[in-house]
Amino acid sequence: MAILVTGGAGYIGSHTVVELQNAGYDVVVVDNLSNASEESLKRVEKITGKPAAFYKADILDREALEEIFTKEKIETVIHFAGLKAVGESVEKPWEYYNNNITGTLTLVDVMRKHNVKNIIFSSSATVYGTPKQVPVTEDAPKGECTNPYGWTKSMLEQILTDIQKADNEWNVILLRYFNPIGAHKSGSIGENPNGIPNNLMPYITQVAVGKLKELGVFGDDYPTPDGTCIRDYIHVLDLASGHVKALKKIEEKAGLCIYNLGTGIGYSVLDVIHNFEEATGVKVPYSIKPRRAGDIPENYSNAEKAYRELGWKAQYGIKEMCEDSWRWQSKNPEGYGK
Ligand code: NAD
Ligand code: UFG
Repeated sequence: MAILVTGGAGYIGSHTVVELQNAGYDVVVVDNLSNASEESLKRVEKITGKPAAFYKADILDREALEEIFTKEKIETVIHFAGLKAVGESVEKPWEYYNNNITGTLTLVDVMRKHNVKNIIFSSSATVYGTPKQVPVTEDAPKGECTNPYGWTKSMLEQILTDIQKADNEWNVILLRYFNPIGAHKSGSIGENPNGIPNNLMPYITQVAVGKLKELGVFGDDYPTPDGTCIRDYIHVLDLASGHVKALKKIEEKAGLCIYNLGTGIGYSVLDVIHNFEEATGVKVPYSIKPRRAGDIPENYSNAEKAYRELGWKAQYGIKEMCEDSWRWQSKNPEGYGK
């Protein structure tokens, strides 16, 4: 039996494929390569010494999915495939709803036809909107999302919850990621953003490597100790191991479960810059810019539920996250060279 990883050539997916293979699982990847390069999977194979069966296909393509589910013996789906750029989702809402929601509905329909009823879904801390209090627990109410991307996550959580409620043969685990950064220790796989990065860490590493001139810090007048926004950065290797733990939970017939995957520690934008400089010895020039629309001042997790129920806890601290992001960027200034 195998695990189907949708979006497995992407940033979090590729790291999760490594963890799954290291844990002894057979992995099948489906990815349309809209935001990834097949090179990532070649590098995964170099790390683990095991090939993953790869299908270049779109999850909107029902026939392609039918073929995969007919050919492969899939037990569980880990569903990463989706579009994820917040700003782009505001410009192209139809594309985001279609890709993320219609794509997932198609996937889930093909799954149930083949009697595969186990799914682990990549959700996001964005579903909390502006949390009333931090650290945020899973039972905090979901909030108003500030963009269509966030709504796709919130709606997909509801859709998968309702599907599980209607048919309790389904096991659905919703994993709410906080802010993934870092890269594999080998420095051979990592985050490979298209064009100018939107997210903080890839922007920092591209400034550090000399591709961009300086970092803009979006706002220093938030109600936080240094005025910059606070987030819960989590090493992508910890996220990846969280998926292996979630699989074990699925194997125990989980029903519906929701977990935050974060460290429980919040760092400000300036904290991240300073930790990066200390960890790598590389200076990151920056200047303060106006606030970015839609940013919330502070969001970090209470991740105790994942510890209690999955035995999962983040292992890596902010210094290692910075070191590992930098190792990847400095060894691969052009990413996968796409
Ligand atoms: P990513 O873009 O690197 O990976 C997503 C992958 O899905 C890409 O390889 C892309 O080519 C593929 N894909 C997109 N649409 C597809 C489709 N229709 N059919 C087949 N493949 C498709 O992103 P990531 O950072 O690895 O994120 C993985 C998942 O985690 C996404 O669902 C994302 O929304 C979610 N998530 C990410 C973050 C983050 O900050 N990186 C935070 C919370 C949640
Ligand atoms: N920031 C800067 N300068 C930059 C980029 C970011 O100052 O060039 C700041 C932002 O204003 C924010 C912090 O760095 O205060 C983190 O920003 P990111 O864009 O890295 O992350 P976000 O918390 O805004 O969003 C991320 C993902 C979303 C996801 C959300 C919650 O990009 O997809 O975490 O999980 F929904």
